[in-house]
Amino acid sequence: MNVGVLCSGSGTNLQALIDKAAKGELGPARLTVVGSNVPDCAALARARAAALPTFVIDHRDYKTRATFDQALLAAMRSHQVDLLVLAGFMRVLGDEVLAAFPQRVVNIHPTLLPAFPGVHAHKQTYDYGVKIAGCTVHFVDGGVDTGPIIAQAAVGVQDDDDEEAMRARILVEEHRLLPAVVRAIAERRVIVEGRRVRVLTAKSSREVIRSL
Ligand code: GRF
Repeated sequence: MNVGVLCSGSGTNLQALIDKAAKGELGPARLTVVGSNVPDCAALARARAAALPTFVIDHRDYKTRATFDQALLAAMRSHQVDLLVLAGFMRVLGDEVLAAFPQRVVNIHPTLLPAFPGVHAHKQTYDYGVKIAGCTVHFVDGGVDTGPIIAQAAVGVQDDDDEEAMRARILVEEHRLLPAVVRAIAERRVIVEGRRVRVLTAKSSREVIRSL
């Protein structure tokens, strides 16, 4: 399964995918291309360092969301992308892209959704004073961080944490969760039933296949 990754920032989640792929731990998922809307972001440098093809589609060059989306779509198609992973991609995708990748666009968000969707998620989480924070990998639908949840990981917030310490602890879990979900999707172990998503273990998935 060909995986295209879209990023806008530092790209540590992209790096986690790259590192897993290098160790042969992404199963049949293959990183095919990395795209960004931010021409000089660190994520692109990470992709280049890993010898992955990259492209930049700068949203400021497009008058409408629709034309931006069409350019993204064309780039994904030219790299024969099957699964689109948003790893710190700071643009909302439109209907045309989502329709082209049904249940094949995933996003990582640094909260336990549905708590604290949208931007400034860490600040929202920290300022609210929650004791359990975390991260979510979910399918992308037309809303902001509203699609069906695939996997979540919880992280305790300590009394002496500042926002940065909390962010760092969440990030460790992000780097574990996102590659695991990408691998599970590529291994066809992710079953979507409306809003409920089941991730079969490798073992149970063999049992399901045997029983078919
Ligand atoms: C992560 O916190 C992710 O959850 C959010 O954006 C951030 C991206 O970080 N969607 P990085 O670019 O992967 O380092």
